[in-house]
Amino acid sequence: MAEELEQSLINQLVEIALDARENSYAPYSNYRVGSALLCDDGINIYPGCNIENASYPCGLCAERVALAKAVSDGHRKFRAIAIVGSNEEICTPCGLCRQALFEFAPDLTVICCGSKGNYEIHRLNELLAAGFGSSSL
Ligand code: THU
Repeated sequence: MAEELEQSLINQLVEIALDARENSYAPYSNYRVGSALLCDDGINIYPGCNIENASYPCGLCAERVALAKAVSDGHRKFRAIAIVGSNEEICTPCGLCRQALFEFAPDLTVICCGSKGNYEIHRLNELLAAGFGSSSL
């Protein structure tokens, strides 16, 4: 069972995800997403936003942008991620992002937010049950 996140840390991640959403490049869907990925050290937080492309499949989700930034900086263990979409509806990670995050943190705490500060907390291994990982190979 993963540890509980302190409320102050949850609030901080939600704020950073909301700020990151400002940089979203989403001219095609107009659905702007921000994320904030907390490393296992409890200190480093990597923001991400979705980056779309005229060649639609080239588009990147906010979660995978944050993950790529963190891993390319040398981090491989993560505690939590906050995700916020464009409206009051809770934004949950897409299947591709669930798999990408599962590689590094199957037990990740996933804070799925709406724009009004509303959120739900899930575990990644609950969102991606029986996920495929390195031990499956
Ligand atoms: N998107 C994300 O960035 N994260 C999610 O979890 C859901 C979807 C982006 C992809 C695309 O740019 C836009 O939202 C609409 O699907």
